[in-house]
Amino acid sequence: MNNRISASLMCADPFELKNTLKCLEDNGVDYLHIDIMDGKFVPNLGIGSDYINALKKHTSIPLDYHIMVKDPDSIIDLLDLRHQDLVSVHYESSFQIQRTLENIRRKGTDNVMIAINPATPLCVLEELIYYIDGINLLMVNPGFAGQKMVDNCIKKAEKVARFIRKFKREDIIFEVDGNISFEHAKILNNIGANTFVAGTSSIFCKSDMDKAIKELKTCIK
Ligand code: DX5
Ligand code: ZN
Repeated sequence: MNNRISASLMCADPFELKNTLKCLEDNGVDYLHIDIMDGKFVPNLGIGSDYINALKKHTSIPLDYHIMVKDPDSIIDLLDLRHQDLVSVHYESSFQIQRTLENIRRKGTDNVMIAINPATPLCVLEELIYYIDGINLLMVNPGFAGQKMVDNCIKKAEKVARFIRKFKREDIIFEVDGNISFEHAKILNNIGANTFVAGTSSIFCKSDMDKAIKELKTCIK
């Protein structure tokens, strides 16, 4: 699988969004990372379904939904999922996560993914590895941009790479989300991550976004 960049829209200046979307499209960014937050599962609020639906009318870039809500089954219908979209739902957010994953798949996406927080052990995925198309490995406690990576998350990424090989799922999407700086992107690329959430640590950190995207692309070649 080619390495992909997923631009974190929570980091974009809403007053510059039209120009930002054009820049992301011109530079071939693969996904728009949409953090959906309810203020309960994470202590922050995200953008709503009207904003998301309006966004889809103004860009051809597929969406990468990161669902951080207490009851994910209750909001899936609001998203109008398309087959090319990515959807990651937190293992920690559903008492019946396998049913939730199936519900999401029924809504039309080809890319059903499980997100896990830094403190969640990888072993919880053993029973799910054949129901998912990807893993979104959180490198921070989710909900806010601009955070520092939680210690040992690089080691955990190495464990994920071993886990993927152990279950012979080298086809899987391996997304990393949170403080993916240029340096971290290089390290995680070498470990085997293939989808990189780009936020204030990389493409939204410089005045020249064109340059920052090109720099990030060289880090994940
Ligand atoms: C974390 C968010 C991400 C990301 C933002 O909850 O899901 O969108 O961290 O990027 P950074 O961490 O680089 O500001
Ligand atoms: Zn995210």
